[in-house]
Formats: sequence, structure tokens, C-alpha cells
Amino acid sequence: MTGVVEIDVTRTLRRPVTEIKKIVVVGTGYVGLPAAILLADAGHEVLGVDINESVVNSIRRREPLLDEEELSNLLKSDRVGRNLTASTQVETGDIFVIAVPTPLHPTKRIAALEALISAVESVLPHLRPGNLVIIESTIPPRTCQDLVKPMIEKGTKLRVPEDIKLAHCPERILPGNMYREIVRNDRIIGGIDEESSRLAKEMYEGFVIGDLVVTDDLTAELCKLMENTYRDVNIALTNEMSEVAETLGINYETALGLVNRHPRVSYLKPGIGVGGHCIPLDPWFIREIDPLNTRIIDVSRTINLGRPEKLAKKIRKKLANIGDPKILALGATYKPDVDDCRESPAVEIVDLMVEDGYKITHLDPMVPSMSYGSLIDEARGADLLVVLVPHQMVLREIERDRRAIEAVMRTPQIWIPFTY
Ligand SMILES: NC(=O)c1ccc[n+]([C@@H]2O[C@H](COP(=O)([O-])OP(=O)(O)OC[C@H]3O[C@@H](n4cnc5c(N)ncnc54)[C@H](O)[C@@H]3O)[C@@H](O)[C@H]2O)c1
Repeated sequence: MTGVVEIDVTRTLRRPVTEIKKIVVVGTGYVGLPAAILLADAGHEVLGVDINESVVNSIRRREPLLDEEELSNLLKSDRVGRNLTASTQVETGDIFVIAVPTPLHPTKRIAALEALISAVESVLPHLRPGNLVIIESTIPPRTCQDLVKPMIEKGTKLRVPEDIKLAHCPERILPGNMYREIVRNDRIIGGIDEESSRLAKEMYEGFVIGDLVVTDDLTAELCKLMENTYRDVNIALTNEMSEVAETLGINYETALGLVNRHPRVSYLKPGIGVGGHCIPLDPWFIREIDPLNTRIIDVSRTINLGRPEKLAKKIRKKLANIGDPKILALGATYKPDVDDCRESPAVEIVDLMVEDGYKITHLDPMVPSMSYGSLIDEARGADLLVVLVPHQMVLREIERDRRAIEAVMRTPQIWIPFTY
């Protein structure tokens, strides 16, 4: 304890809700549940709907959200307890917020919109004139106009936007820091008409203290995808430069420190690849609608998709002269200090090594099914301990126990490819 009482500005700066609405949030995962919690905390009557019964039950039991302390505390609060219910079934309401997955098609590099279609279908029988539908899921440009609007008009015989309002309000939260980000980040409000934007903005004003910037649905759709494409392209650039530095025998960490002193240059850190539910997918959603003008997306995606194989190659090199080598690989999540393994390059690297016939133990203290007691026990007899995901707790344990870990290994090689 520092003795300093931190004032929760996020609470004091929020605008009070003037009209209590019934809000149905369809899809209560990483994106939908935080929104449902904050809408309930703002005073609205909220129903969280999910097709996964265990998700519904865990909301009903007010189970904590891993590593999201503020949101877990809010979920247990009396106010949210009173205002938030959960169900597998949609009911009538004033506003319907859709936050279901929009993954990549399993074989083609286009968005798979089945979950979005089924979520919109589940809402249709409950829509009444004056209702607002907000799509928070990440979607390819023109999805509101060409898919959601026609579905609503066909399924309800009501007109969009005359009878039913529609908006795309994409999410920007960073897992691991969700409360702060969902409340403080500026947010794009993309209404299909002015009234849709006004109503959507009014809803977000209940918990967002960042700016709520109004635009149209199509601009909002493209902007969300442009943001993650920016990240992917810049990661590809630094990944390429790190290879060039290696070819030249230059320390890339030193080079980064120097170039980033330029006032208009900000290189990102290189890594083993790009994972998670957003950055590796979203650039393809732009490419699917304009393949001729998205060459940089192709190149960047190819570079980043090739990173796991590059790392696997380096691991093979480190084990080249060892008979029947044993590897201990640490980290399975898509980035440090989170529990999310979706699209994880670390998992891909381990799969590549297993395909090659290597004996590999894969552990991750952030993933309950892959956790362990002590690295000193786990590293016994290993020829390489490779940290694929530099979680703080793993780095601390290695720093503390390095000697003892090396003492139990058959070949004392500890390799942390990227920490900076
Ligand atoms: N996770 C992030 O950090 C993040 C950030 C910004 C945007 N997004 C986007 O938000 C959307 C949701 O992502 P997420 O990470 O919350 O996914 P998620 O998998 O964590 O949660 C989605 C939930 O929707 C439920 N679901 C699926 N189909 C349903 C249906 N028809 N009806 C009701 N529930 C249904 C699932 O059971 C799941 O619980 C995606 O489009 C994603 O790209 C995610």
C-alpha cells in the first residue's frame, strides 16, 4: 500500500444515465461481457445472451473474469447484481448489442459471418419499431448495409433506418487492461443515419469517458479494420528489420533504441508472430473487398505468418548436435501476461516441432490446463528451455532460479528470443 488513495476518475467523469433502457447484449465473451457489466453499472436493465450455457451460468454465479480485476469486482457489486441477468434466449428490449465472433473462414481468407447471421436471426422476432441494433463485432466493410439491414427488413417487415435504427460501434479494448480501455478509449459511433448515431452515442455515454466520435456505418467498418492492419503492417516491418539486423550481426534491441529517438519514428518490437482474435484476421477483411489495393496486406500477413517457422528453424539449429533432444517450451498464449491462446504463434511453433518428431513439453502458467509447479522440476533432463511467450512471472522465475534450472538440464540452454 502506498497510502495514496487513487480516485476512480472513470466513475466521477461518467455522464449520468437520463433514461433507463433495456439492453440485450448478444454474445457475452471478451467484448460483450465487459459492455454488459458497464451498461448494468450505468443503471440500465441488461440481459446478457449467450449460446454457451456455461458462459451464462458463470455470469449468473458472478464468476470472476480472469485478470480483469475491476470488471470482476463490478460483476460482484450489488448494482450490477440487480441490473444484469443472463440467458441463452433473447428477449424484447430497447437496444440490441451484438458482440459475437467473426473469425476467418477455415479455408478462404474471408470473414466467416455465420455467428453474426445467427445472432441477428435470434434478435429478429423481438425487434419493435424504435429499437436500435448495434454491431460491436468486427465486420468487413458494407456488412451493415448489405447483410444486416436486408436481414432485419426481410425478417421483421420493418424498415431500416425508418423503423429500426442500426449502428456499427467497433470495440478497441486490450485484453488484460479491459476496464480502463473500455471506459477511456475514444470510440467510433457509425450510425446508418443520424438518429441511429445519436441513440448509440447516448448509450455509450453511460460508461465511456473517452470521446464518442460520430461517423457513418461504412466508415466505422473500414476504420476498425484499418487500425488492426496498421498494427500488422508495422509488426511485419520490425520483424523484417530484425532479420536484416541478424544478417548484419547487429544487436536489434540497440538499433531500435536508436531509431526510436527520431521524433517521427516509432518501431514496434519484433516477435514470434502475430496472434489473438483480431490483428491476424482483420486485414484479410479489407483485402476480401478490395484485393487490388491491398498488396501491403498480403506481404505483411505473409511475413507475420512465416514467423513461427523462422523460430522453429532457429530451435532446430540450437539442437542440431544433440541426440534425442528434449525441449521445454514456455508460453502458449498469443502475447505475454494474458490467458488467451487464440491464433497463438507459440502453439504453432510447438506443433511444428512435434511434427518434426521432437520431444517437447509445453507449459504456460497463465493457462490453467498447462500450468506447473516449478521450472526446476520441469526442466530436468531438457536440452533447451525456450521462452516463447515472455510472461512476467516466467521471466522472474528464470531470473531467480536460473542456476538451479541449468543445473538440472541435460544441456543447459535457456533461450528467450524476445523480451524487449
Ligand atoms: N477480444 C478482443 O480483444 C476484441 C477486440 C475488439 C473487437 N473484437 C471483436 O469482437 C467480436 C467478439 O469477440 P470476442 O473476443 O468477444 O469473442 P468471444 O469468443 O470471447 O465471445 C463471443 C461469445 O459469443 C457467443 N456466441 C456465438 N454465437 C452466438 C450467438 N449466435 N448468439 C449468442 N451468443 C453467441 C459465444 O458463445 C461467445 O461466448 C469479434 O468480432 C471480435 O473480432 C474482439
